[in-house]
Amino acid sequence: MSPVRVCFVCLGNICRSPTAEGVFRHLIEREGLAHAVEADSAGTAAYHTGEPPDRRATAAARARGITVSGAARQFKAPDWERFDYVLAMDRDNFDDLSRGSAGRHPDKLFLLRQFDPASPQHASVPDPYYGGAEGFEEVLDLCEAACRGLIAHLRQRHGL
Ligand code: 4NP
Repeated sequence: MSPVRVCFVCLGNICRSPTAEGVFRHLIEREGLAHAVEADSAGTAAYHTGEPPDRRATAAARARGITVSGAARQFKAPDWERFDYVLAMDRDNFDDLSRGSAGRHPDKLFLLRQFDPASPQHASVPDPYYGGAEGFEEVLDLCEAACRGLIAHLRQRHGL
């Protein structure tokens, strides 16, 4: 069976989406699903292309035993073919992706937090870039809750 492919998308691909990717990988490895699911992340903007994740994001994750790594890239039209789930971190990312490039697939686009059963409708993972360290802790908490729900969804929907 080919793996289910998921891509987390924020604005810059240096804070929230690499964090979500790291949290998701950590959980799928712990659950023995690494063979069945592939994860990546991208940004709607190209400002930080090639840069590593923000040090505040990597430090907060490391303190929880989670590795956040990679090099920033912009989400591009062919990504709609490559991925089964495109998971927007906030409403702006969602709107940019739904208006965005040619080849878009509305059926593949979700707000990440819709997979968290405890989340209000249409809730976002707030942008921590201009704030303090507590914003990065909140991003980790929200990503963990949503990724647990996403994994439950993938198990059910794809028989994993
Ligand atoms: P991210 O955070 O979208 O979670 O990676 C941001 C990173 C960079 C900027 C804004 C948000 N920026 O304006 O450069």
